[in-house]
Amino acid sequence: MATKVVVNIPGEQPYDVRIGSGVLAGLGSHVRSACGIEGEGRALIITDSNVAPLYRDAARDSLKEADLRVRDIVVPAGEDSKSLSVLGEIWEAMAQLGFGRDCVVVALGGGVVGDLAGFVAATYMRGVAVVQVPTTLLAMVDSSVGGKTAVNLEAGKNLVGAFKQPMYVGADTGTLATLPDREWRCGCAEVAKSAVIDSDDFFFWLTDHAEAIAARDPEAVSEAIARCVVLKADVVAEDKTESKGVRECLNYGHTLGHAVEKLAGYGTFSHGEGVAEGMRFAARMAIDLVGASPEFAAAQDELLDALGLPPLDWSASPEEMLDAMKRDKKARGGHVRFVLPRDVGDWELVEVDDATILAYLRKWAEEK
Ligand SMILES: NC(=O)c1ccc[n+]([C@@H]2O[C@H](COP(=O)([O-])OP(=O)(O)OC[C@H]3O[C@@H](n4cnc5c(N)ncnc54)[C@H](O)[C@@H]3O)[C@@H](O)[C@H]2O)c1
Repeated sequence: MATKVVVNIPGEQPYDVRIGSGVLAGLGSHVRSACGIEGEGRALIITDSNVAPLYRDAARDSLKEADLRVRDIVVPAGEDSKSLSVLGEIWEAMAQLGFGRDCVVVALGGGVVGDLAGFVAATYMRGVAVVQVPTTLLAMVDSSVGGKTAVNLEAGKNLVGAFKQPMYVGADTGTLATLPDREWRCGCAEVAKSAVIDSDDFFFWLTDHAEAIAARDPEAVSEAIARCVVLKADVVAEDKTESKGVRECLNYGHTLGHAVEKLAGYGTFSHGEGVAEGMRFAARMAIDLVGASPEFAAAQDELLDALGLPPLDWSASPEEMLDAMKRDKKARGGHVRFVLPRDVGDWELVEVDDATILAYLRKWAEEK
């Protein structure tokens, strides 16, 4: 049985997110109805070299069964495909294949494919429909919903992009069976982040089901994804273009996390491992700066441990860490901001001065 969450963003057409095992088989009919395709329609699957051999046929068969003409483009797996050169190749291929404004782009893969294909759809012929078919836990709980799309520049990640809401999101949890453990844990960090910023209800539910989720229990996983999607949909509905500060809560753990990822060398730690470390760090700052309780920080530590996200056995010099934080694109005018939880479900965006950050970073490095 699939769970359905409706994402209703002011000024946008509402869209369904279907979550459950077997959702991929119904892709074609959902694409047809969500995109209002009558008569002949054309779909372009954009996927990557790891996902294509696993799930492209199932996606293609379902689209064909719904009488859509289907082509696909396979990009190399990995962050490097979110590039201007790959983007240009896809635009050219679409034009060569004769895709018009009435086509639907189907993003089949993780966040890399979702961001890339979403940006293709936002820009090709000034915008065509996109459907997200996430196949990583991270993409299911986070990147496939909310409409942020982007490619990277030499100067940094996600520097060119657009807001482009999908017409439909189909999250087939059956595809998660083949996800490598490292990618699994990466998604788990985003689930933990969502629970902390959402509510006691989500946090305690997740604490109770952390082991089941770490063991990929299908029911617990589907429920966790649905809870994350509900939160993300609510946040995005309030702050569609990330301009009101509401959407900032989704960056919990990311201030230190991004610096860790960068200084350790991209690929050393996954994004999720960085975020989990950043959550531990932010919770400790939150005790002094916004009155969080030590019990909250301890409960969060236990949750992260249970999800397979232990503290990192790595540190860098506090000065280098601060420098990396200041260069992050989320910093404003060189000022570093942290999402700090006062408690579960209650957060504040705080600009923290350099001396205070350095003091906490020293403590963090000493404890390693
Ligand atoms: N748009 C947003 O709101 C948003 C939010 C968070 C992250 N992101 C972006 O998402 C990207 C990271 O996404 P990701 O973590 O999904 O990485 P990813 O897309 O690179 O996928 C991770 C790896 O898993 C493989 N894979 C995917 N599905 C699989 C499956 N079912 N079985 C086996 N292997 C599979 C991929 O080929 C890849 O090697 C980053 O580029 C980040 O910037 C975007």
